[in-house]
Amino acid sequence: MRKCLLLIALTAIILPTGVSAQQPRPSADFPKWEHVADTPQMGWSSWNCFATNINEDLIKATADAMVSLGLVDAGYIYLNLDDGWHGERDKKGFIQEDRTKFPSGMKALADYLHSKGLKLGIYSDAGDFTCACYAGSNGHEYQDAFTYAEWGVDYLKYDWCYAENINPIGAYTLMRNALGRAGRPIFFSMCEWGSNKPWEWAAEVGHSWRTTGDIGPSFGPIPVSYDEDGNPLWKPLSVLEIIELNEPLREYAGPGHWNDPDMLEVGNKGMVNGKWMAMTEAENRSHFTLWCMMAAPLILGNDLTTITPETLAIIKNKEMIAVDQDPLGIQGLRLKNENGLQYWFKPLEGGDWAFCVMNTGEADVPLSIDWQELEVNDRFSGRKTSFSKVNYAVRDIWKGVSAGNTLVKGKGSKRKQMVPKVLNVTVASHDVVAYRLTPVPTK
Ligand code: GLA
Repeated sequence: MRKCLLLIALTAIILPTGVSAQQPRPSADFPKWEHVADTPQMGWSSWNCFATNINEDLIKATADAMVSLGLVDAGYIYLNLDDGWHGERDKKGFIQEDRTKFPSGMKALADYLHSKGLKLGIYSDAGDFTCACYAGSNGHEYQDAFTYAEWGVDYLKYDWCYAENINPIGAYTLMRNALGRAGRPIFFSMCEWGSNKPWEWAAEVGHSWRTTGDIGPSFGPIPVSYDEDGNPLWKPLSVLEIIELNEPLREYAGPGHWNDPDMLEVGNKGMVNGKWMAMTEAENRSHFTLWCMMAAPLILGNDLTTITPETLAIIKNKEMIAVDQDPLGIQGLRLKNENGLQYWFKPLEGGDWAFCVMNTGEADVPLSIDWQELEVNDRFSGRKTSFSKVNYAVRDIWKGVSAGNTLVKGKGSKRKQMVPKVLNVTVASHDVVAYRLTPVPTK
């Protein structure tokens, strides 16, 4: 990480040549771009695995891997540069890319990604500096938005470091206006960690907003570490902690404006405060499933050039991705959370439901799932299950096979009736079972 330079941010807004006085003034309101976020965004970001150690070769190799691994076809279309791509501002205050890391320049990189069917994401910050102390956008919002548009950028993640004295609604609205004014549809991903409850005010401002602090590659809470003076060190949040923070916010999410519980750590490992962290295959599956159930952005954060077949199978599961990308865009609800078992439902298009049980405990749990005991009446979406009347076909999403039905033909005196069918399944420790329920048409 670079040391913060004492850069004095220019406060003047300098528009590129060609912007005439008749055109809307920078202060004019521009609505956010429509239809770039009808479903939660999918892609890859450099931060979780590479931090600021990024360069052109890595990004091109990642782009190539996204194509050859079938990830672009699976819907992962954004390739996002996080913190650390920046060079200095030029004399007029326009931001430059770091030409040592990106010798061909950002426009050439955008062209390369576009030729592969990908879109380029970039990162900045509402304060004077980014979190890794590169130049922030404060006072340069319009210049930056115009520069991104000129480069062919498609996505902006906008962070909140060094922004102590800035009004969040004003700062994010200013950048939304600048992106609108710059004239290129750009996805606006707000990243102020939920500090100012963006879910209450940002539906008109951004396409997604972070609801929590940063994620780390751990299923359960990361132990606290201390510095030499005995002060607790900052630590990222675990998957389970983030779920607790994001779960109550479901009514704020929907097409065009998503809760963002942070980027995925599936397949990632690394040092956190000197301790080695990694998730098991079961934990990765649970993490991915819950992000899909919560209609979260699916932004991969692992090294795609060394990905294992197990990780690839998780992130490429089309049926699970379809749960995340369902056009209704309803964030799932947690029906039950007891004895370490979380039961989640998500209403889907066409009367379908996604259902999962995640086992956060240390022992495998054999379950007899009695659908009649899991009736859902979701006041937020207006959707209800009807397990006593409707027969649902049950599809096991992770196994990719049918798991029978919720009702079956009775036997003996009940042979003319449909009777409840129990689903027997064992949920392994830290693992998940996930199903898609589809109503069977009655004759
Ligand atoms: C913040 C964000 C992270 C990442 C880093 C980059 O911590 O929350 O997602 O973008 O900054 O410095």
